[in-house]
Amino acid sequence: MKRNITLVVLTCFISIIITSVSAQKKDDKQKMNMFIDKLMNKMTLEEKLGQLNLLSPNAKTGPFATKKYAEKLKDGSGGNIFSLSGSPDEVKLKLQLAENSRLKIPLLSGLDIIHGYKTIFPIPLGLSCSWNMPLIQQTARIAAIEASAAGYNWTYSPMVDISRDPRWGRVMEGSGEDPYLGGKIAAAMVKGYQGNDLTDETSLMACLKHFAMYGAAEAGRDYNTTDMSRLTMYQTYLAPYKAAVDAGVGSIMTSFNEVDGIPATANKWLIADLLRKQWGFKGFVVTDFIAIQELINHGVAADYKQAAELAINAGTDMDMVSESFIGALKQSVKDGNVTMSTIDAACRRVLEAKYKLGLFTNPYRNVDPDRAARVTLTIENRMTAKDAALQSMVLLENKNNTLPLKKNVNIALIGPFADNKTEMFSMWSPTGDEGSVVTIYDGIKKLNANVSCAIGTQISDDSLLLNYTGSNFDLAEQKKLVNEALELAKKSDVIVTVLGETKSMSGEAHSRTDISLANCQVELLKALKSTGKPVVLLVTSGRPLTIQNALPYADAVIEIWRLGTEAGNAVADVLFGDYNPSGKLTMTFPRSVGQIPVYYNHKNTGRPYNGERKRNFRSNYMDQSNDPLYPFGYGLSYTTFSYGNIVLSDTLLTGSNKILRAKINISNTGKYAGEETAQLYLNDPVASVTRPVKELKQFQKVFLQPGETKEISFDITPEDLKFYNSKLVWDWESGRFNVYIGTNSQDVTKASFVWNK
Ligand code: NOJ
Repeated sequence: MKRNITLVVLTCFISIIITSVSAQKKDDKQKMNMFIDKLMNKMTLEEKLGQLNLLSPNAKTGPFATKKYAEKLKDGSGGNIFSLSGSPDEVKLKLQLAENSRLKIPLLSGLDIIHGYKTIFPIPLGLSCSWNMPLIQQTARIAAIEASAAGYNWTYSPMVDISRDPRWGRVMEGSGEDPYLGGKIAAAMVKGYQGNDLTDETSLMACLKHFAMYGAAEAGRDYNTTDMSRLTMYQTYLAPYKAAVDAGVGSIMTSFNEVDGIPATANKWLIADLLRKQWGFKGFVVTDFIAIQELINHGVAADYKQAAELAINAGTDMDMVSESFIGALKQSVKDGNVTMSTIDAACRRVLEAKYKLGLFTNPYRNVDPDRAARVTLTIENRMTAKDAALQSMVLLENKNNTLPLKKNVNIALIGPFADNKTEMFSMWSPTGDEGSVVTIYDGIKKLNANVSCAIGTQISDDSLLLNYTGSNFDLAEQKKLVNEALELAKKSDVIVTVLGETKSMSGEAHSRTDISLANCQVELLKALKSTGKPVVLLVTSGRPLTIQNALPYADAVIEIWRLGTEAGNAVADVLFGDYNPSGKLTMTFPRSVGQIPVYYNHKNTGRPYNGERKRNFRSNYMDQSNDPLYPFGYGLSYTTFSYGNIVLSDTLLTGSNKILRAKINISNTGKYAGEETAQLYLNDPVASVTRPVKELKQFQKVFLQPGETKEISFDITPEDLKFYNSKLVWDWESGRFNVYIGTNSQDVTKASFVWNK
């Protein structure tokens, strides 16, 4: 009785709070609407179009390319700006130029803050291998705290484009191939940037990109066509965008590619119908760089006026750099091709973003040189950067327990990336403070003075690649470098190499057809291996490389991605076992480029491959296994984990309001304490549409001491069984299901259950 009364009181209390919060929200919305109505009543058409125009000081495209951006800020034809550079004071002065405009509307000040502002974290693909949402959120929070003080209120992140093709250079900016994990990461980053309240001085408005399906560029060639079924869009590619919208992202950037034959920037179905109507997105949509002008090249517009009309009528609100809106839409309204209400709706959405950021009450709320000095590159920020770097590394091989190293061994540290600050960053960290980077050499030296370092090799001997980058391969120089490395190697107990690709070999517009380790690097490894000393290979890259050619010459391999400011300290901790690697791949590592696209959540086909490569008339290759080099979810530890059998709370369920509990024991069977990420996959073997062989549905991290066993449990509900059917309805179907739990997407324990509606 007493309990019931408490429950009733509690329920009343909660509903009072909910009612008053929603009343408050309604009140806030009314205030905002009144403010914007009043402002828009004063605005001319030109001024409204100015709000739809996003300038960049460095961009020299569009019909008004010769006019300086400062002029445009003053006359109100440029209502927003991105990539302003300089000290916080200088940035503020530039933003203040808008005060000379008639209505003095404050500016959105954007920047590509992709993996940190001054404190640089691992590239997003690396960070995703941590599978650690609070940590990922914290990196975005720190980026926002640092960048907001320096004059920015808007970041072009997170990039959530799912990709199954490591030839695409931009895989480094995303979170890999999985829709579920990608969605979790997208939401964590949005929350990190935007904080609890956008008006807070430390918040940045996030910009989700690139909407949509940009990661599916054919043949991994950047900006290329994408073409896929609606089912694949809904089931796989759209999921992370939707998760970010649900997490409250404030803005969205269109992608360069076409979707269903219509470029994303002009795609009404994508923006007006799916994003706004179906998903209820209330923020504003900005194009990617000159994407409106590119509609002409795509072949859907004859000139920039028509391109502008297509874009605004599709639901795009803001024109990045092409200046087609400001250049054309006045005439388009006169011609009746664009209605005033369309312009008003777009302008309102942009003004709402400014209002939500609190810019009308305090246009420079966030620019604060003192705060910038206080909050930038702090010890705490660096500690998070180190933690992120530690958790991003993935141990791929560890023959004969080569790692961890003893602290007193003599180390020959070899490679062009070994003592290199610049290369710990990526093409997306231009704001980072390079001087503060700890190189791998410096990091190791702190823990073991017996280390000497040599460059060992040039980056590449591929003449076509070198031709592109404007460099040369010098044979005599290479011999000298290898000999120097061998001299060091001979005097050492162990050889640690740091090889891979440079930061300018991945990222936007950096697609590659050959993603193996360069020949000259493999030749160096071979020479080092011939000394008989154990060889550790640290691979730095912005994508999964096809490293099969290097494996015979390495005893241990760690994928270190591009680790950022704290790279050296983190690598040293891992090498010496002060941190036991725990990262798990979020993108499949192919054996060769010929296997691409290769991903874990593929379909079974009518003639499935069953590991027997020699069988004819099966879906397999003649010359290679279907299996990847390293599957999604893969990553070793210095210890070993063993999984027991899955115990299900039930094997026959009826009705949709039930919960099925799957339990499993995980034991640490090795010598080191360590963290494991246990992964739960589901499979629906008979459904109205073909379903993937496995889909990640949940995961859990568990820390175990040597010899320790812990039981973990996952609660499965019908929500986990849902998929998009051929009518694109998100639902589940009765029948038998398989559940898999394991250390990666391949090595799993299986159980089955039947669940009927
Ligand atoms: C083009 C890129 O595709 C996009 O990701 C970036 O945010 C913009 N340029 C602005 O720099």
